[in-house]
Amino acid sequence: MVYGIPRRPVGALENASPVSADPAKGRRIMDLNLANANTKQIYNLLIGLVAPRPIAWITSMNLAGQLNAAPFSAYNYMGMDPPIVAVGIGNRPGPGAIGKDTAQNIRNTGEFVINVVNEAVAEAMNICAVDFPPEINELEIAHLETEPSLLVKVPRIAAAPASLECREITTMEIGRSRIILGQVVAIHVKDEFVDQAGPYIRAEGLHAVGRMNGLGSYVKTKDAFFHIPRMTYEDWKQKIGKQQQLPGGWP
Ligand SMILES: Cc1cc2nc3c(=O)[nH]c(=O)nc-3n(C[C@H](O)[C@H](O)[C@H](O)COP(=O)(O)O)c2cc1C
Repeated sequence: MVYGIPRRPVGALENASPVSADPAKGRRIMDLNLANANTKQIYNLLIGLVAPRPIAWITSMNLAGQLNAAPFSAYNYMGMDPPIVAVGIGNRPGPGAIGKDTAQNIRNTGEFVINVVNEAVAEAMNICAVDFPPEINELEIAHLETEPSLLVKVPRIAAAPASLECREITTMEIGRSRIILGQVVAIHVKDEFVDQAGPYIRAEGLHAVGRMNGLGSYVKTKDAFFHIPRMTYEDWKQKIGKQQQLPGGWP
């Protein structure tokens, strides 16, 4: 029981009606029961549909102090109080459970830094995704300098527009994935990207990039913003009051 919501019994969905892909019905839609799909198909579809995704360009260290950097787009913030981020890191393909260096380092040291990726550093970020052996420091290969962090031993990437220092809350191992929850303990943002009034992030100037379908496709955010103001219930009633022709005739 979480927040009063009863947990569904294990196996509750097993007897649900199977989806139908009957072409005779003339439906132009792919229905896929994931019980009939393989991991690669599921990966291809999920990363194309849960998109665009922000990229956590993570710096971490092993117990000997060897630095590591790699990007992860299974990433988002999950909470504010305390500030929580989540990152999904798969094991390396192949038999056995061979964790990626980042997941291993975070488990061993409990610390990591998430560096934000914008257009200026996108190529360097991609170099860090090469599956170098653990003894290789991706940052050296990509000619990236680091700056010391405020609270954690792991440094941040100097060229990144912003960085989040994190401490591991927990790592959940589910199947072949490790889901890392981290608490953000310090934030660095280059002055040019901060509006001190909030402080807010000058998101239109940051030029963050998002990952799309895993086929090397990304989206730029430069000159791509549009605005939809958030409405209160009062705003909504006023808006609808002026548009009586809307279906349903609300209110
Ligand atoms: C933009 C981008 C996003 C990625 N996102 C993920 C991800 O969310 N999870 C994951 O396991 N691998 C992801 N990868 C692959 C890892 O970056 C890659 O396996 C890397 O070699 C891991 O490095 P490490 O062993 O030093 O941790 C991504 C790669 C790129 C280029």
